[in-house]
Amino acid sequence: MPLLSVVILAAGQGTRMRSALPKVLHPLAGRSLLAHVIDSATQLSPDIITIVYGHGGDTVRAAFADQTRLSWAEQSPQLGTGHAVLQALSPEVRATDITLVLYGDVPLIKAETLKKLTIDAEKNQLAWLTMTVTNPKGLGRIVRNAAGRAQEIVEEKDATESQRNITEINTGFLACPTAWLARWLPNLNSNNAQGEYYLTDILKHAVDENLPVVTHAAEQAWEVAGINSRDQLAELERTYQMEKAKQLMQDGVTLRDPSRLDVRGNLQCATDVTIDVNCIFEGNVMLATGVIVGANCILRDCQIGTGSEILPFTMIDSATIGSNTRIGPYARIRPGTILADEVHIGNFVEVKASDIGHGSKANHLSYIGDSSVGRSVNVGAGTITCNYDGADKHRTVIGDNVHIGSDVQLIAPVTVHAGATVGAGTTIWKDVPADSLALNEKTQTVKSGWQRPQKPQKK
Ligand code: UD1
Ligand code: CA
Repeated sequence: MPLLSVVILAAGQGTRMRSALPKVLHPLAGRSLLAHVIDSATQLSPDIITIVYGHGGDTVRAAFADQTRLSWAEQSPQLGTGHAVLQALSPEVRATDITLVLYGDVPLIKAETLKKLTIDAEKNQLAWLTMTVTNPKGLGRIVRNAAGRAQEIVEEKDATESQRNITEINTGFLACPTAWLARWLPNLNSNNAQGEYYLTDILKHAVDENLPVVTHAAEQAWEVAGINSRDQLAELERTYQMEKAKQLMQDGVTLRDPSRLDVRGNLQCATDVTIDVNCIFEGNVMLATGVIVGANCILRDCQIGTGSEILPFTMIDSATIGSNTRIGPYARIRPGTILADEVHIGNFVEVKASDIGHGSKANHLSYIGDSSVGRSVNVGAGTITCNYDGADKHRTVIGDNVHIGSDVQLIAPVTVHAGATVGAGTTIWKDVPADSLALNEKTQTVKSGWQRPQKPQKK
């Protein structure tokens, strides 16, 4: 079995980002550029992934500290792309080993494109990914002979006038037997306009040694688009989001405006889901059949059951929502919440770490935290669970069919048993028995003919 090594170049400075954050750590669709590249590489099940780092190296390594399978090679100083790949080569190379070169700042390369390169490399060929573009400015040109065979790659700064007219460019992606790199890379020279050790020079080495060179054309420009500046990052973000949107629509999702959707993670939708404008989906979000998400919602790591409707300006984070629920507008569902089917959570209601049973409703201005709420409970407007005593959080338990009036405080730990009624404006600090009425005795005093204080008249 050939051993597949992936080398990811990420040592460049990225000065055009004008940022304290290393370029490859800037996020695209909620994940760093480098994380996207590592993801694509991982899909090929490589034996080794080595990241060549330089500028901001410690920050970059720290960002991936949990990924123990990654290898790191420092490149200092940075003497060019050929020198960079050399840093990642292991001293022991078997004849069957192959290496694939990727770039930490080219995030959207697809695993299926890379697979074409590695398959060729396994057959003892140098496989190179090229692309024909309308504006090749600044990029390496693929020089072919009369028979159409790739002969060499010439950087723009080293190119002749006629070479500059070539529109087939080097994307940078390549794969070949590792032994060839081990032979060629230490012998590169820097006799070129930039005084660098060019990785691209290996193509000529292969041609000189009569070794087979194959090229593949990248299908979409965004797959090989590198990021050098914040405007390129923003543009690629939009491209990525538009691709996501197209995919969702193909899968049967209605997007009110595909250009106003942001998926920063994995969004899985069943059929006939409708998503209105300006929604953000983060982490793993699953929307079941017929779910409607209103405008300006933020949904993170959650599941929404069949036929549920999330009304505008709602935030849901780390929660499980049943079927045929109605949440929002302006609701906030926080981590650890589980809502059963047919629950209604209305405007300005916050729910945290609570289970709410089938058919229960909290429609206005409430806080339900650390609570278990039974079935068919009605929580009146302005009701608050007082779960925090300054040191610890305590649970509130509300049984089935409980009716809680408006503006009630429930001081946890406390249980309101099934079927009980709590009067408006009540502070509950002791358990309420089943089927009883709990209220605080309050008096109402009336003073007739009351004169309100008045400001002195201005002269
Ligand atoms: C390189 C290619 C060019 C190609 C272009 C595509 C060479 C000589 N040229 O040019 O043919 O069209 O990419 O974008 O390879 N890097 C290091 N260490 C270094 C130098 C670079 O890790 O010493 C990394 C950078 O972080 C970057 C990548 O290699 O990810 C490419 O470097 P860059 O300077 O952008 O290369 P270009 O001059 O654009
Ligand atoms: Ca570049």
